[in-house]
Amino acid sequence: MDTSSRVIGFPVSRIDGPLKVTGTAPYAAEHEAPDGLLHGFVTVATIASGRIAEIDLTEAETFPGVVKIYTHQNRPRTAWWDKAWKDEVALPGHPLRPLENDRILFDGQPVALVIGTSFEAARDAASLIRMTYHEDEPHTDLRFEQDQSYVPKEKRSGISPPPKPRGDADRAFSQSPYQISADYFQEGEHHNPMELFASTVIYGEDGSLTIHDKTQGSQNVQSYIASVFELKPDKVRVLNKFVGGAFGSGLRPKHQVFLSVMAALDLKRSVKLELSRREMFYLTWRPATVQTVSMAADDEGHLTAIMHHAVQATSLYEDYQEVVVNWSGLAYRCDNVKLTYELTELNVSTPGDMRAPGAATGVFALESVIDELSYEVGIDPLDMRIRNFVHIDQNMDKQLTSKALHACYREGAERFGWASRSPAPRSMRDGRDLVGWGMATGVWEASLMQSTAKVKLERNGHVTVSAAASDIGTGTYTILAQVGADSFGIGAEQVTVAIGDSSLPKSPVEGGSWTAASSGSAVQVAATTVRQTLLKHARDLPNSPLKDASVEQTAIRDGRLVLAVNDQAGVAIADIMDAAGVDFIEELGEVGPDQAQMKTFISYTHSAAFVEVKVDEELGVIRVTRVVSAIAAGRILNPKTARSQILGGVVMGIGMALHEEGMFDHRTGRIMNHNLAEYHVPAHADIHDIEVIFVEEHDDKASPLGVKGLGEIGIVGVAAAVANAIYHATGTRFRHLPITIDKLY
Ligand code: MOS
Repeated sequence: MDTSSRVIGFPVSRIDGPLKVTGTAPYAAEHEAPDGLLHGFVTVATIASGRIAEIDLTEAETFPGVVKIYTHQNRPRTAWWDKAWKDEVALPGHPLRPLENDRILFDGQPVALVIGTSFEAARDAASLIRMTYHEDEPHTDLRFEQDQSYVPKEKRSGISPPPKPRGDADRAFSQSPYQISADYFQEGEHHNPMELFASTVIYGEDGSLTIHDKTQGSQNVQSYIASVFELKPDKVRVLNKFVGGAFGSGLRPKHQVFLSVMAALDLKRSVKLELSRREMFYLTWRPATVQTVSMAADDEGHLTAIMHHAVQATSLYEDYQEVVVNWSGLAYRCDNVKLTYELTELNVSTPGDMRAPGAATGVFALESVIDELSYEVGIDPLDMRIRNFVHIDQNMDKQLTSKALHACYREGAERFGWASRSPAPRSMRDGRDLVGWGMATGVWEASLMQSTAKVKLERNGHVTVSAAASDIGTGTYTILAQVGADSFGIGAEQVTVAIGDSSLPKSPVEGGSWTAASSGSAVQVAATTVRQTLLKHARDLPNSPLKDASVEQTAIRDGRLVLAVNDQAGVAIADIMDAAGVDFIEELGEVGPDQAQMKTFISYTHSAAFVEVKVDEELGVIRVTRVVSAIAAGRILNPKTARSQILGGVVMGIGMALHEEGMFDHRTGRIMNHNLAEYHVPAHADIHDIEVIFVEEHDDKASPLGVKGLGEIGIVGVAAAVANAIYHATGTRFRHLPITIDKLY
């Protein structure tokens, strides 16, 4: 049986798919406890700034089924108050300690936890808590507050500065014949994965905790809980076997896991706490950002100057920062660059990473302004980008491990039919619709993180792969099975994958698009080591046909370790293990960044997005009728799951361009559209034809597997490509996202 076509590079369907579509995959809130569960419900602040004045629990505490109500006045004084609160991806500042004191820093801040014998009891009792506040003036409007220094600048600790300026951007700009300077703005966006934040904490008789948590990193939550509550790490096990989407919202532990553990330890009972959709809006978001980009070109369209300044919202208690402006110094060749970045502290919860954090935002502005400049110079927008192609990272002065962006431009343009585009705005029509064609470049980092994995080969040839990695809907189960299968000459469906458990080999949070490259490579290293051990045992056999073979010269075929050249001479795995007196061979594999290589090289994924919009001139309705997304991301392990990642990214990019907008009432500092009826995301009717192309890109440096990662690149540039298409259709530039009907007219 030839199984080589069913492993790496084959479009294997998700091995966890049947469990998910039949509703049998249990998510964090779908677990029970042997001793039964108590249920939590969180009460949140109804002001954005101030202090709690009085709390009246009289009615709530006597409500049937209420076990206990926690506020800042009676929370247990466990070890955690002064102890380490940092998680693996914590930020500079003072991480939120729920129920720490009476201060309110943002709308929706947790102020009480009700524990009841049922969810309904806890929820109904929570509605009877009477809380009064001393309210202060809230500060939530970034565009207003960026000019107000009500927070002293020196308090803004820990900002990693953007790359130093190069050349003289101001002078080059003023001396160039073509110049564009424009402001861009977007309000916060909210991730809204299907699965809500939830924790089921199972309290063991010995005080140990088994926690089913909605997180992108089981070991991150484990070490956070262990350090915050001063527990022995081996008494805390965190599981996230199935995660219903996350997009970055689950990189850091959320307050439901803290509160449910606090109650479980205090009551010595198992506790479940699931947040509501409304609460998701209070604690997961891509920050509001104001950007100014100035860009200039010479007569041939070569970029002479780029200046990019961003001001981004953060909370009053942590400095969340993302790489917004750096992309402008590395996407195109330019010798005069100035990049600046600031934070403004607002009465909001700390923003967080949301799919391609920083790049989705910064590349929107960059790709809008280079498009605008191409019209000024009078050359095709795609030609403008090709003319300014750069083969190195000028910010870091480093070589790139690969950059097949030319192929993205070429293959994407061909598939889209870009050559038949009519250059002038408002020059293409379809009936009463204006038609616009726009494009943009995307770039995102390709990282290899320190990761381990175990591979176990049994006597009967069965293979098990394990790591504390997560599958947040990305396909981790499937690609790890494929990588494992590849080494043993079996199909992916014959590999057991164990992930989503803090007790498994050390892995980073699933984020930054690094899991396939990192955990995938660790599996490959472990599998190779298993085969080396197997070969060592085989060589020891009397008259071994493999006596002089190296591991590269061998293959596994139908349960036999054979010489790859003829598939014949070999020994059965069972016989090798019998002779060695073992039932299985298990090895650990570890990979991490190559520090020496990193001095000279850096890795990015690249993309080109081509978009067609149709704009109903009378009604102002914008439809994105066609998208071609061409991606260069190294080796593609599974074209099916890979395509799904890009489709999802493109849909999210369309949402960014046309729909998504967190709305505050800045007078009260409160979020107004904290539900999926009023916070718009693309629906089926908004999404038409999306085509994904993976261009050939060989990369032997980005990761041992040659994989670069795909979770984020799909969204980068899409909002700009849509805005550029809308300009081509209508002749109007839109710089404030989302581009809704009211802005069009
Ligand atoms: Mo990603 S935004 O690092 O989950």
